[in-house]
Amino acid sequence: MENLKTRKNKIEGNIGIAHTRWATHGEPAKHNAHPHISNQVVSVVHNGIIENYLELKDSQIKQGYKFTSDTDTEVIAHAIELAMQSNNTLLHSVQKAIKTFEGAYGLGIISPHYPNTIIAARKGSPLVIGVGKNGNYIASDQMALLPVTKKFIFLEEGDTAELNLEKITIYDINGIKVKRPIKTSKIKEGEVGLGNYIHFMQKEIFEQPQAIRDTLESRVTKESVLVSAFGHKARDVFKNIKRVQIVACGTSYNAGLVAKYWLEDIAKIPCNVEVASEYRYRHPLVLDATLFVTISQSGETADTLEALKIAKKLNKKIYTLCICNSAESTITRESDLTFLTHAGPEIGVASTKAFTTQLVALALLTCSIGVSKETISKKREKSIVEGLKLLPGLINECLLEEDQIKKIAIRFKDKNSALFIGRGTMHAIAKEGALKLKEISYIHAESYPAGELKHGPIALIDDNMPVIAVAPNDELLNKLKSNLEEVKSRGAQMIVFEDKDSKVKPMKAMEIISITSNLGRITAPIIFTIPLQLLSYHVALIKGTDIDKPRNLAKSVTVE
Ligand code: M6R
Repeated sequence: MENLKTRKNKIEGNIGIAHTRWATHGEPAKHNAHPHISNQVVSVVHNGIIENYLELKDSQIKQGYKFTSDTDTEVIAHAIELAMQSNNTLLHSVQKAIKTFEGAYGLGIISPHYPNTIIAARKGSPLVIGVGKNGNYIASDQMALLPVTKKFIFLEEGDTAELNLEKITIYDINGIKVKRPIKTSKIKEGEVGLGNYIHFMQKEIFEQPQAIRDTLESRVTKESVLVSAFGHKARDVFKNIKRVQIVACGTSYNAGLVAKYWLEDIAKIPCNVEVASEYRYRHPLVLDATLFVTISQSGETADTLEALKIAKKLNKKIYTLCICNSAESTITRESDLTFLTHAGPEIGVASTKAFTTQLVALALLTCSIGVSKETISKKREKSIVEGLKLLPGLINECLLEEDQIKKIAIRFKDKNSALFIGRGTMHAIAKEGALKLKEISYIHAESYPAGELKHGPIALIDDNMPVIAVAPNDELLNKLKSNLEEVKSRGAQMIVFEDKDSKVKPMKAMEIISITSNLGRITAPIIFTIPLQLLSYHVALIKGTDIDKPRNLAKSVTVE
């Protein structure tokens, strides 16, 4: 948000803290905005949730503290101020106070009594220190600090740190001074700028051919997949596993849904996929010989991380693998095996290139498991690898359809709802299409496996409900064609994205966009994602929403 108030009231000084708050407790309003200040002595910014804040609040009220916000964060400021009253230093007061907090926090704290110092602390929420030439910095994510430095220290669980202009001192969970390595980010300058694009989402859609090339590089040879891309122990792990459990959120979960089809059908291994926020609380059975796969762009999604920790606690014999786009993230540290998608920084809240590179990673995983278990032949492996290598070119071809998709987007201008349908892996792609449309254009969108329409959702269809169908030329095409007839006879306006060879019969009020031909089981879901991303982007552009920062959403959901 363009903050005119802070622009007008220029603040002088060489130290400061600020926070873009994602409201968990208390509405987005001035009195709930950070920093929270206690008795003009302690100011705090906080990412996370203090779960026992009501208990702490009660006791602090009894001790005379007055609360001015509805947040959980305010108790942090008072707890530190209280500790300072007993002549503790700011650092020791923070170290004392955090022992009383349950939940998650990434904290930045300053005090006028320590005018040159920032104290940082983290548990459960990410926190990174930027080591600059002209100053030191803290942030939840290294991306925020790239304009000022490329050198980072990643704090560990329970760490506290004291920063001033010259020095950074870090203490572990027990308050013992420790050294944490300084890492240099490989992210290049141009990767975090807009270049010639208007929005990051637009830029990231168009970066997909390169992102996929980068993700494939050094992971495949001419005809085969390098199983070691998943780690040097991967081949043994894959040989021994009996099942795959995938856990993720949002778009990453949708990638997992596609992988279920691939893993069972191609690699012949049972696979279950679940949203992390459900998995973590349902007391799941975690069986031996499970490959527990987390998928996450940021590697910091609180629900996904917690699901992983719970699975590891429930069964110490499982193998864990994360597919992640952020090399230094918490999830990579928590997992036995890591596969990094090389999508480059994804800044738009709506995930695009992270999704298609996750699918590439999952295709490689399918192949690697199949090869290790000898459930796929050399011939199949070769054809998958060759298919993957065609993706950048096929995506470029697809991006050429942008003008046609732009025209179709106009039809959504006054629509309140839309229905996305597909069969097989295309149901997951339809689901991803619906998620994209709702998150950036605020149009209510649902997705259904096309065969499920007759069991209820078909009642929704009238001429005000656009139906978007994805129609690759696969073994379910004829079934899908029958579903399209059913929808058509209920008066729907339809938009069909088809493979050139699908030859969907043109009907009244039906727009058919042939995107490409000869797609395979692996390439089709990746390619059909592209027009759906473009459609949402152009609908949102017409509606004038804040495309890169849609309302109520955060790029990385570090609270549950
Ligand atoms: O960083 P992650 O992949 O773990 O994030 C998961 C979801 O929060 C994320 O995919 C979200 O659904 C996107 N905004 C969707 O575009």
